Amino acid sequence: MPGKKLYFGTNLKMYKGIRETVSYLCELEQLTADMDPENVQLFVIPSYTSLPDAIRSLRHKQILLGAQNMCWEEQGQFTGEISPLMLRELGISIIELGHSERRHIFGETNVMINRKVITGLKSGFTVLLCIGETEEEKNWGISDETLRIQLKTGLNNIPPDFNGRLLIAYEPVWAIGVNGQPASVEYARDKHELIRSTLCEIAGSAGKDIPLLYGGSVNPSNSDELILQPEVDGLFVGRSAWNASDFNALIRSAIHSAARKQHYT
Ligand code: PGA
Repeated sequence: MPGKKLYFGTNLKMYKGIRETVSYLCELEQLTADMDPENVQLFVIPSYTSLPDAIRSLRHKQILLGAQNMCWEEQGQFTGEISPLMLRELGISIIELGHSERRHIFGETNVMINRKVITGLKSGFTVLLCIGETEEEKNWGISDETLRIQLKTGLNNIPPDFNGRLLIAYEPVWAIGVNGQPASVEYARDKHELIRSTLCEIAGSAGKDIPLLYGGSVNPSNSDELILQPEVDGLFVGRSAWNASDFNALIRSAIHSAARKQHYT
């Protein structure tokens, strides 16, 4: 499949224990075995406690695994936190940072997230930075400002060798979860364009190559349209991905749709 690489990932949040995670991964691995990771990158972000078994359960390394959070320090008096060294010991490749639930339930600030982004990159991980405006910010007409602040603060002073190790997920907070309203395709396209231009402002031409994923109530009825948008390089899926065969079907349909786009452009 020619064209831009596509990314499909899911964060299992605080669902699925060890057994469920392993069986989900084994099924997903089997169903997606024919997908070439050169063209389609899949990733799953399970709970911390499932990670060691999750790693052992994957036979091929096509599905990347990640952690849902990480401390900005390597060690110290940080009860309840997980250090980058501990995650590196496990052998995972992705660290998800700044998910809306971390920001809004656990009070993580842009400055804290920035420290984590820097530590994650310096520790050799791929960082998946999540950004998104709240409903209130949208109603106040400051969505663009919010996204630009989250990007410019979150990526402040990152090491120059981030290329190929940084992913951005745009997830409007009001679109996430059971009470979320999916963003319209036009809205998502607009915000992805803003994010792309902000990334180019921050990183120069390297900003063009940072994969940009859309997330927030992605489901089989909006995924094909979303992936067709010019600055959407992938989908970050919650509920619609937690059954392996549903996720496989969503991915295949989106790949098919993206291939049609490339054919006609
Ligand atoms: P959702 O979750 O797809 O269930 O809305 C998205 C997310 O939190 O990343």
